[in-house]
Amino acid sequence: MSAEPQALFSVRALTTADLPEVLAIERAAYDYPWSEGVFRDCMRVGYRCLAAVDMAGNVLGYGLLSVTVDEAHVLNVCVGPLYRRRGVATLLLEHMARLARGERAATILLEVRPSNTGALALYRRLGFERVGVRKRYYPAAHGREDALLLARPL
Ligand SMILES: CC(C)(COP(=O)(O)OP(=O)(O)OC[C@H]1O[C@@H](n2cnc3c(N)ncnc32)[C@H](O)[C@@H]1OP(=O)(O)O)[C@@H](O)C(=O)NCCC(=O)NCCS
Repeated sequence: MSAEPQALFSVRALTTADLPEVLAIERAAYDYPWSEGVFRDCMRVGYRCLAAVDMAGNVLGYGLLSVTVDEAHVLNVCVGPLYRRRGVATLLLEHMARLARGERAATILLEVRPSNTGALALYRRLGFERVGVRKRYYPAAHGREDALLLARPL
């Protein structure tokens, strides 16, 4: 009998010791990666910072969430290129949704580039729906790119 994929990795709090692995994934994933300082600031101000790790403790991906009075906001969710399509982002997002629900948030929100078709497919599958557009939100090769604002009720 084979193990379920979820048994092969788990979610825990991100620590500063994870930052070298996180930054390597971040730089491989994005054209405009966050700096180490942004991750440190997120930890310092108390955002929910999560790591998905395998049985050997390797960081496969991470997710960062801010929760305000009744809204939770996914600030970043990212999975290392070698670990994609195994349910890692799904696990991180469902974990973030549970945390947000536990803090009485009613909605979970996120921004995504319209060109990020893989992420859009993931979010739609998890029940996120488009609720707006943030104009010129992201840096892009030629000027700026709009963000789609997606939301899912909790
Ligand atoms: C988007 C991202 C987080 C997805 O992570 P992941 O761990 O591969 O996602 P999951 O394995 O949980 O995917 C679950 C489902 O979402 C959909 N999906 C995920 N990535 C997809 C892709 N590249 N193309 C099409 N569908 C995709 C599929 O339905 C997938 O199920 P399947 O593999 O059984 O077909 C990952 O590709 C990534 O880190 N990209 C770079 C960073 C980024 O763009 N982050 C989002 C910023 S808004």
